[in-house]
Amino acid sequence: MPMTDEKLSVVRKIGEAPAPSGPGSEELAVRGGSPIVRAAKPASYFHGPQEIGEEEIQAVTAALRSQMLFRFFKEGANSPTAQFERLFAEKTGARYVLAVNSGTAALICGLVGLGVSSGDEVLVPAYTYIASAAAVLAVRAIPVIVEIDASLGMDPGDAARKITPRTKAIIPVHMRGVPCRMAEILAVARARGLKVLEDCAQANGGSYRGRPLGTLGDVGAFSMQQAKIITAGEGGVVVTNDPLIFQRAACYHDSAYTFWKARDWDIKPFMGENYRMSDLNGALALAQLKKRDRILARLRAIKRRLLEVVWDLPGITLQDVPDVEGDCGVSLILFAETAQRARIFAEALRAEGMEAGSIFDKAIPDRHIYYHWDYILAKGTPDAYGYPWKDPIRPCQVEYSRDMCPRAIAWLDRAVVIPLTQTMTDAHVEDCAKAIAKVARGL
Ligand SMILES: Cc1ncc(COP(=O)(O)O)c(C=O)c1O
Repeated sequence: MPMTDEKLSVVRKIGEAPAPSGPGSEELAVRGGSPIVRAAKPASYFHGPQEIGEEEIQAVTAALRSQMLFRFFKEGANSPTAQFERLFAEKTGARYVLAVNSGTAALICGLVGLGVSSGDEVLVPAYTYIASAAAVLAVRAIPVIVEIDASLGMDPGDAARKITPRTKAIIPVHMRGVPCRMAEILAVARARGLKVLEDCAQANGGSYRGRPLGTLGDVGAFSMQQAKIITAGEGGVVVTNDPLIFQRAACYHDSAYTFWKARDWDIKPFMGENYRMSDLNGALALAQLKKRDRILARLRAIKRRLLEVVWDLPGITLQDVPDVEGDCGVSLILFAETAQRARIFAEALRAEGMEAGSIFDKAIPDRHIYYHWDYILAKGTPDAYGYPWKDPIRPCQVEYSRDMCPRAIAWLDRAVVIPLTQTMTDAHVEDCAKAIAKVARGL
């Protein structure tokens, strides 16, 4: 078990309910037995989108009725996007919040905010949505791919090893709502004078040692796309406590920002692109943000219940979650003893009637695993002269190969992921707990 005594006591303390009784002796469904999961599965595993209801419909309708969807023409009239930013600031405690139109835009604006520039190197984990690395290329910098560990987040030791004189920033990614080893990553960054951009796309509302994710590093980036804890249709958020980072990010998010806002600049303004959020998305984002804490409370309760059952099952170890209480609870991840057993385990869970999958497969392109990032491994670029890879002033010194992060592949190969959603009924959760116990004991 990778769980420490401290974490185990958190898991045990949370619910004193007994483990589900009975399973273990029955024939596995994958071998012809009866499936143990009887209670209906949830209709959807999309967290934010399945909460879209009257509040969202009214908020978006009101935005439409206003016939004014450009936030900067109605700041005085309290644009929904500005209201969303204020509520996000309240919830995170961040001094500055900027709504943008995607998580990728949030990462790009965050990197510009940090001053990441042509030829700089930026550390990204081997397991993250490809956008974390693509955003680095978008600011003409070079992504350096770092191993992950049993947390499935960035391995701080490998991050330290991959620092060169060109390294400017680190992007820890809180994948699947699980906080990274932030204390260790921040220590590496501070010791080497590097900036930290937290990619919180999948961890909206998570925390680490009591502090909201996104506010531990220098800047945080969130996504509100379809598959996220809350959605704006498409949308993103940048958070920071640093006024200069904020001004640079805001300047870059709109080529005309200086015309709409802020006359008193501490920075010298520069060009931007268009990453503005429309008030249509802002209205949806605001309605969803009001539901976020309820979604998270339910997800966390479900995960805690499952942890009570699975923590000591034979043949599996648990993802090493660096902060159990700050985990958003969007999935439960187990490691089987081998890659082959992980596939069999996931198949056996599905046969019992619940959702489960393995993560890595050489043959199935997964945009979240560096192994499949073809255009990055091949140094693809839309630029006719090969930028940023072929920068004559700072030629790229980074090489890539599919086998460059063997430990990441080894962890992902043995992982079994059980997606969780807030609409799982208690009965379904109990059935899933029984199914996991039955499979672990029966395989
Ligand atoms: C970890 C991570 N980073 C960045 C992104 C990019 O967000 P978006 O799709 O909103 O641009 C996503 C999700 O899509 C993600 O999961």
